[in-house]
Amino acid sequence: MALRSHVIGTGMCVPDRVVTNADLTRWMDTSEEWIEQRTGILERRWIEPGQRPSDLAREASHAALAQAGLEVGDIDCILLATLSAEHDFPGTSFFLHEALDAGNVPCIDLRAQCSGFLYALQMADALIRSDVHRRVLVLGCEVHSTGLDVSTEGRDVTVIFGDGAGAVLLEASDEADGPGVLGVRVHAEGKHARRLWTEAPSSAASPRLTAEMIEKGRHFPFMDGRFVFKHAVTRMPEVLLETLDATGHALADVDLFLFHQANLRINEFVAQKLEIPAEKVLNNIQRYGNCSAAALPILLAEASRSGALEPGQLVSLTAFGSGFTWGSALLRWG
Ligand code: UT7
Repeated sequence: MALRSHVIGTGMCVPDRVVTNADLTRWMDTSEEWIEQRTGILERRWIEPGQRPSDLAREASHAALAQAGLEVGDIDCILLATLSAEHDFPGTSFFLHEALDAGNVPCIDLRAQCSGFLYALQMADALIRSDVHRRVLVLGCEVHSTGLDVSTEGRDVTVIFGDGAGAVLLEASDEADGPGVLGVRVHAEGKHARRLWTEAPSSAASPRLTAEMIEKGRHFPFMDGRFVFKHAVTRMPEVLLETLDATGHALADVDLFLFHQANLRINEFVAQKLEIPAEKVLNNIQRYGNCSAAALPILLAEASRSGALEPGQLVSLTAFGSGFTWGSALLRWG
């Protein structure tokens, strides 16, 4: 029985196309100042026509495999978290599977929106510790840009979202005190699902998508921004502390805090509430916007490559998002 799972490779991929705040002002009534002051975002990446979510996920997967010195044939299972499936049916992971030429290893799409990576990490960790799989590739992958309202009507939502993919490769470890996933806690509160959602297409409607739904903009994401913000700054500290407590660690033990990249102000608020020094918090929302399930693995891949995260250090990852869902993980890096 493996004692724990540990990260042996990370990877990320964002599209080359940079969309700045100034670009957005050409399509909608907004300003560079509003976006920067309210969200911290300066630019985001959006795909080019013809680019697909599975293209981004493939690049991120190859980068994680290369860092681990392994090949596609060494993976036993693929878990991909997304809220923006390449096709509703069957999802994104199967197109990634095809792109990787992954033989017949199992793959699955996981739906937990902005907390999706942490839900997937918890499942991968459990699969490894119970000896079902030895190596699991965990991804977060989103293409928001093709589903956004770029008119003034959609400005509150559209300005925050970006496209991207991040991947981590987890492997079984028998080292009791070695690096690895020390704990993951996740939660949900479905009664708030309609506060941050895309109503159409819906399998509860027949047909699932009508001209009227499109005319009314029901196929664009809706967000009750202030309500979401309020819950995020309450739930994130709560679950972060819960996870630390469950693993027998204190806030001061943590070397690096990675928060979901939804809004820089949320992260500043959370850090302030917990009295976490700014130098212990890493953000990249300024460059990528909110990539939902992909945000944390992209941030982790950047942290591991930039030297912000060193072997032996404790890293805490925390997210909140649609569902509502929220969660936190504590990892010893190595
Ligand atoms: O990733 C999943 C989780 N998501 C989140 O955690 C996001 C949480 N929410 C937020 O980050 C913030 O609520 C937003 C950044 C989305 C919005 O910021 P806000 O400070 O809550 O603004 P608001 O929606 O309350 O709107 C304030 C004003 C409104 O104008 P009035 O009614 O005061 O005249 C909006 O119409 O700002 C206006 N506004 C904009 N103005 C310029 C909304 N969006 C824009 C915009 N540009 N893009």
